[in-house]
Amino acid sequence: MAKKKVKRVDLIFKGCDCNKVLTDALKMPKEEIIQMLLDSELKGRGGAGFPTGLKWKMAAAEKGNRKYIICNADEGEPGTFKDREILDQIPLKVLGGMALAAYVTGAREGFIYLRHEYRFLIPKLEKTLETFHQWMEDFELDFTVKLFIGGGAYICGEETALIESMEGKRGEPRNKPPYPTHDGYLGKPTVVNNVETLVYSMMVMHIGSGEFKTMGVKGSSGSKLFSISGDTPKAGIHELELGMSLDDFVKEFGDGNTKSVQVGGASGFCVPRNRFKEVHVGYEDGLKGYSIPTGGSMMLFNSSRSMYNVLHNYLVFFEEESCGQCTPCRVGCQQLLKGVEAVKYGEKSHKYLDDLLHLAATMKLTAKCGLGQSVANSFSSIVENFREEMIY
Ligand SMILES: Cc1cc2nc3c(=O)[nH]c(=O)nc-3n(C[C@H](O)[C@H](O)[C@H](O)COP(=O)(O)O)c2cc1C
Ligand code: SF4
Repeated sequence: MAKKKVKRVDLIFKGCDCNKVLTDALKMPKEEIIQMLLDSELKGRGGAGFPTGLKWKMAAAEKGNRKYIICNADEGEPGTFKDREILDQIPLKVLGGMALAAYVTGAREGFIYLRHEYRFLIPKLEKTLETFHQWMEDFELDFTVKLFIGGGAYICGEETALIESMEGKRGEPRNKPPYPTHDGYLGKPTVVNNVETLVYSMMVMHIGSGEFKTMGVKGSSGSKLFSISGDTPKAGIHELELGMSLDDFVKEFGDGNTKSVQVGGASGFCVPRNRFKEVHVGYEDGLKGYSIPTGGSMMLFNSSRSMYNVLHNYLVFFEEESCGQCTPCRVGCQQLLKGVEAVKYGEKSHKYLDDLLHLAATMKLTAKCGLGQSVANSFSSIVENFREEMIY
């Protein structure tokens, strides 16, 4: 991935005539919309980075006339707060993206799965839905959207746990495959997309795939909203091109004393100062490939921060939010938490950290879903880079 300086973008919140974008798009053949998304190389902004055009194509290829579009507005990753702002400021663009997905796939029903803590957005969203449903009538597109309010569990942001909870069951992830595009809500083909991804699908229709791809770098095209927090004078939401190096990011957003950046929230990686130059923010292959994906959370820590406290916080979070369905995660989260406490308070030797690193690596390989698999990201990157801070 080629390095890119921090480049600010003003696309997503900028005024655009949603009705016109939809009017034009809904006259296009469905295959052409899918091709535009594939050409744009837009990847899901929820964190996993799955190509959006491909997801829609897979759902479109499924037989049957009952399909669903779900907007994932659960936004539970610590340090992420951009979906809230999108839903507050530009809800029609989100619904526009859902209408595009419905048109392309043949879905007639959609849901916004709203984070429990974002209930204050309900009146605004309900009002916007009235306008949207009127548009759908005008466009003669048989598509309606309802709100579904989550119960406040982090795991319900995982798409299959989300679907389970919508079906009235415990919010526990399913085995994959089958993927939701084949066997989703009520066993029917379902597209689950992040709030921001849906808006970017509208933006691709608005500016064209060519222009979208002029932003970002190969493999990580376009821009993204970043939720920036921690020791920074510029905390907030910033739209930036993908592919920047962390060094450039810290020059722009740091407070002059940044010791590490947590890229991707609690389930992401902690990058220490001596690696800022090598690491880029984008969708390729994690720390080893020197590029790290993020759903948007960027937390900066300066030298006054204890990385033990940072890790301890994440582990308390994971231990509490693990759904408990599989042993590696249920027991692993508890043992990692107890283990770092035991080393910090001198009950175990620092060598015990190596056993814990093995445990984290095992969880990555054996846990059933992304929650348990990603605990090792923050655990290993913090313990390996700040080992001295973990010790009594
Ligand atoms: C534990 C966990 C929590 C997740 N939380 C969210 C979330 O709050 N919002 C979201 O869009 N995706 C979340 N995801 C990712 C979803 O499973 C899914 O990949 C995403 O909604 C797909 O949308 P996209 O392709 O537009 O990114 C989470 C995944 C895991 C493993
Ligand atoms: S990895 Fe954790 S959250 Fe995922 S299914 Fe297993 S216990 Fe549940």
